[in-house]
Parts: sequence; structure tokens; C-alpha cells
Amino acid sequence: MCIGTETDLAKNRTFHITTFGCQMNEHDSEIMAGMLAEKGYEPVNTRDEADIVIFNTCSIRENADKRFFGTLGQLKHRKLEEREAFTVCVCGCMMQQQHIIDTLKSKYPWVDIVFGTHNLHQLPILLDNLYNENKKQIEVWQDGGEIVEGLPAKRLFKHKSFVNIMYGCNNFCSYCIVPYTRGRERSRRPEDIVTEVRKLASDGVKEITLLGQNVNSYRGCGEKCETDFTDLIYMLSEIDGIERIRFMTSHPKDLSDKLIDAFRNCDKLCKYIHLPVQAGSNDVLKAMNRKYTRESYLKLVKKIRTAVPSIAISTDIIVGFPGETEKDFEDTLDLAREVGYDSAFTFLYSIRQGTPAAKRTDQIPEEIKHQRFNRLVEVINSISAEKNREYRGTTQMVLADGVSRSKEGTYEGRTDSFKLVNFVGEPGLEGKIIPVKITDSNTFSLTGERE
Ligand code: 5AD
Ligand code: SF4
Repeated sequence: MCIGTETDLAKNRTFHITTFGCQMNEHDSEIMAGMLAEKGYEPVNTRDEADIVIFNTCSIRENADKRFFGTLGQLKHRKLEEREAFTVCVCGCMMQQQHIIDTLKSKYPWVDIVFGTHNLHQLPILLDNLYNENKKQIEVWQDGGEIVEGLPAKRLFKHKSFVNIMYGCNNFCSYCIVPYTRGRERSRRPEDIVTEVRKLASDGVKEITLLGQNVNSYRGCGEKCETDFTDLIYMLSEIDGIERIRFMTSHPKDLSDKLIDAFRNCDKLCKYIHLPVQAGSNDVLKAMNRKYTRESYLKLVKKIRTAVPSIAISTDIIVGFPGETEKDFEDTLDLAREVGYDSAFTFLYSIRQGTPAAKRTDQIPEEIKHQRFNRLVEVINSISAEKNREYRGTTQMVLADGVSRSKEGTYEGRTDSFKLVNFVGEPGLEGKIIPVKITDSNTFSLTGERE
């Protein structure tokens, strides 16, 4: 068989990546797109146009699993018809679970390439191997090994970027699959992060979002292991061109006073924090292995609000964790009201094979879960609408992301506090931070005019 060169192999081949799940996955997809573009593969906007289709999967809830298999199944006909001319690759969190690999092998044997979260940097090699050897490639690493640095990324936006600062999670919340799919915590070296952000700034990036499952336990080892998360924020804030720094996600048990001070002392650190509470009942929090109580969480929120009164706070809440009683659920409703969240992501508890909570025999019936979920959403939405109303008549600095998808002739952007704003303004504002007068608001967004 003739062995092609890299450029030969990529020649005229187009690709499309479908991403399921969180920002981590979105950023992984940007890196895969960057690697492929560097090899000469060409991105296209739809799966139908693509010679190579890649699914970057999520395993956080059962819905994500189902959606993936549903969408994958739709490609079978095309794959069997076009054979070598069409390549199907699957990767991401689901691939780190043996039962998923087994299902793929038995029910979707026509998939060409399978790889996991720990070896996504191998995608170009796996493609080369597939085309050279004409042989299916299944390569899933069980753990992370050395962090691979210097991978290119093809960003969705010119002016803002995700930056991974750490990988994995050590917390083992009893409902969560992430520690099993993403492995143990590993922090990148601070100097590698600084180099990446300097490069982003020189490319015109103004806003960075630092990503990790639990950024508060970042511990960067350079010469010595002494850079904590707040130190890293201060280091990055010194980079010219970077005007906004955000981060995701913070575990309440690890949030330091030093970080709270940084919200006051570092102008570039946006006044917004995502602080997942998951539940408002101490019994449920304990069973979830969250390692804080309702009282300590509320105290933390108070401390943050005292330090930075204008800060916006969002959260994640799971409804219907095994054993959750009506009283437990009411504690959650109560806590949501007491905190007064700007917004919340609400989830129905979903059994994840291999996690401790999946083995519990006191699972909550679907019907009750749904009823509670609807009640929670109603409470959350009315608080969000109220919080947004407070913005009416104020002027906010908004980073214009681009033209709005929902309303013609308007821009979409974010305030420092991460509120979505639709506003009218002259052409050419994309990527600029500009004052916007807020004229109206609803549950999920604000409306305004360029001031
Ligand atoms: N069921 C429902 N929601 C979950 N999450 C994580 N695991 C599960 C699960 N098994 C939610 C948590 C987490 C968010 C990213 O997803 O709220 O913070
Ligand atoms: Fe999952 Fe808990 Fe880790 Fe978040 S902190 S990724 S919920 S185990």
C-alpha cells in the first residue's frame, strides 16, 4: 500500500465536529479543529458536507448518552454507502467507559476511529493510521499522563477564548461520572498558561475564561509548587491586552478568602461567580459528598456579597437525588430564594453507572422528579427576572460578541457580570467593550442601546 504524506492524506478532506456537553468539551473541540486545520483538513459547517465527522461526547447525564447514540445512528446508511470516502470518529467522556466501547463495537462496528479524553492530541495520527493502514483505530488511554502543551486551537470567537488550567477532578461527588472519565486533578504549569495567554492577547483576545472542574484547587508547579489559583489570576491580569478574566467552576468547599479579595483588588477579574450548590438540604449534601453544609454555603455567599455587593452569582442544582424527601426539596427552594441567584442550571438527577449514588435503592420516581424540577424552575426564573430588572436604567460595559441570532439588526454581548445583552449599535462593534444603556429586561437577558 502506498503511504501518503500528511498533506496528501488531508488533501481536499473536510471535517465537522459535533460537540455535546460542557465548556471543557467545547474547548477540546476547538483544539481538535486547530490540529486538523494545521494538517490541511478543512472545516465545514454541517455534517452532511463533511468527509470526516467527529462526535465529541458527554457522559454527565443519560440524556447526553441517548442524544449521541441517536445522532450517530443516523450516519450508518451514509457510512455503508460511501465507505472509505466517509470517516466517522467518536471521542470524549463517554469513550472513557468500557460499557460504551462495548456498545460501539457490537452495535456500531462501522465507526472508524474511537479515542478518549486523555489522548485527543492523537487525532491527526489516528487519521493518518486509518488512511495508511485502512484499519479501524480504537485507542482510549485510561489516564492522563503528561499534560500535552502547545496544541493549536481554532477558536469560535476572535476576541475571547477558553484556557484550560487544569484537568480532572478529585472530588468524587457521589452522583458524578467526571472523576472517572476525566481522571485525577492535574494542573498545568503557570508559565505554560502565561505563555498561552500572552499569545492569545497578541492575537487580539480580550477575554479569557479559565477552565477546570474545580479551579479553586489549582496548584501550579513551576520551579516550586507555589502558585495557587488566585496567584495565577494576578499573573494573568498583568498581560496587556487581556481585559477580562472569568473562570469556571468553583467548588464552594475550596473557595479562599484570597480569591474573594481578588474580586475587589483585580479590576480585570469579572464580577461573576458560578458556585454550584447542588442541593439545599444538609442530608442530601452529605449523601452527595459535597463536603459543605447549607449554613457554610450561605455564609460563603454572604462573605462574597459583602466584599463585592454587585457580584452576580449562578449555580447548579440537582433535583431528585436518591432519597430526597419533600422537606429536602423545600430546603433547596428556600436556599435558592435566600441566595437570590442571578441564574441557575437545574438538572434532573440521572443515574450514572459506576457512581456510588447509582447503587442506591431509594431512587426518586420520574414523575416526582419532574414535578419538583418544574417547581424549582419557576422559583429560579422569577428570581432571575427580578435580578435582571435591577439592571434597567443602568449603563453596563458590554463585550459585543457579534450580531444577534434571535433579533435582526442587534448585537449580542455580555456584561462584566455575565448577563446576556441584546443591543442596537452601529456596525463594526464585534469584539469591542462598549457602554450600553439597559432599557429593558426579561428572565434570561437584558435589552439596551449603545450609549
Ligand atoms: N445527574 C444530574 N446532574 C448531574 N450533574 C453532574 N452529574 C449529574 C447527574 N448524575 C450536574 C451537576 C454539575 C453539572 C455540571 O452537572 O449539577 O455541577
Ligand atoms: Fe463532578 Fe463533583 Fe468533580 Fe464537579 S466537583 S466534576 S460535580 S465530582
